[in-house]
Amino acid sequence: MANEFQPLQGMSDIYAPEIYLWRMMEERARAVFNAYGYDELRTPSLEKLSVFKRSIGDTTDVVKKEMYSFKPSKHELALRPEGTAGTIRHLAGRGEEGLNARVFYIAPMFRYERPQAGRKRQFHQVGVEATGEANPLADAECIAMQKNLLDAWGLTGSKIQISTRGEPSDRKPVAEGLRAALRPFENELCEDCQRRIDENVLRVIDCKNESCGKIVDQIPSAIEFMSPASRDYLDQVVEALSAMDIEVTVNPKLIRGLDYYVHTVWEISHSALGAQDALAGGGRYEIALGKKGIPGVGFAIGFERAIMALNACGITGEQFAPDGGIWLVSLGEAALKENMKLARELRAKGIRCGMELEAKSMKAQMRKASRSGANTVVIRGDEELEKGIAVVKDMAEGSQQEISLEEFVRDA
Ligand code: HAM
Repeated sequence: MANEFQPLQGMSDIYAPEIYLWRMMEERARAVFNAYGYDELRTPSLEKLSVFKRSIGDTTDVVKKEMYSFKPSKHELALRPEGTAGTIRHLAGRGEEGLNARVFYIAPMFRYERPQAGRKRQFHQVGVEATGEANPLADAECIAMQKNLLDAWGLTGSKIQISTRGEPSDRKPVAEGLRAALRPFENELCEDCQRRIDENVLRVIDCKNESCGKIVDQIPSAIEFMSPASRDYLDQVVEALSAMDIEVTVNPKLIRGLDYYVHTVWEISHSALGAQDALAGGGRYEIALGKKGIPGVGFAIGFERAIMALNACGITGEQFAPDGGIWLVSLGEAALKENMKLARELRAKGIRCGMELEAKSMKAQMRKASRSGANTVVIRGDEELEKGIAVVKDMAEGSQQEISLEEFVRDA
């Protein structure tokens, strides 16, 4: 139930232990991207609305229905619903260098959608964009990297579906062909699709409505209206993937909801996700924010959905919790001060170290130590200070021994 301590609907606070899984995923993503020569890019969450309209497309659901936009002054602004548009806005400003760049991002995105399991209003994407002329091998390499990342996370059971949007010159014949094929069924389509036939006919193809799906099954696929060159491009991508032992299924009904795509599009699904089964999406695109279109290829994986899938594979945050570390117990004022010094020394070595900062009973301090998850407890009082030793307790075994403080710090 909503209350004053809850975040907004469709948004979440992310905290321990789940945050440990996020950190693992981010670290491994950075390592995989580094291996492929990608550098990190951080763009602002807020952009001019026109950046998204011009790249994602005016008639897409994302732009028409899901933008968080407002007009604080002259320009209408929007929170980014995805990472590609802002990335290309940035790269377009870098001239030649931006035309051949490899960048990745890990960032929150915002879409005003109806929240449900796996569908949020603030969600997080890990994504990449590689600019450069259309090349089937570049598309295959991008998919291979994405697969490497899912493997690095330990995710099994995902499925890659691939298709093509064809070249820009295919758009007209595809739209005309599909429109002509759908006309006889026009009255049987859902209300949205009756509008989409003229507005954005490709959207009819991936309509989730069952009766629309049945009609789409009866007409030729979009690919059949494309040029031989476009079909050949898709074949080359699939071949290159197969040469790398990456299994994909060609699904001509896969359209993707963003208008900037040309040639290859793909989606990765996972059975653990239920209705919102798209774990990731990607494709080749051409985005014109200035006079010249910028070609590139990329993908984005939704963190929240990837976590649902990882959990279903038995992978959880607890498994990546930091080492329990050391807890210092101080018996008396002098020990409290000396332990402050010792804690600083241990923390400088990168060891997780905790202690009570006021005089408390031994029992109370031990209770806190065990609640902290510490592996080791170090107990010192006046006597230990005098002798330069510490009582060191192994929390798992319950055993304890006296050792010289110097030795303890050296071996910690
Ligand atoms: P997208 O398919 O719109 O593609 O989003 C990619 C992924 O983000 C989805 O597969 C899903 O995991 C996650 N996602 C999307 N919307 C939500 C939501 N409301 N709640 C939770 N997760 C969500 C793009 O965004 C493209 N920019 C991908 C791309 C990059 N294409 C080329 N380069």
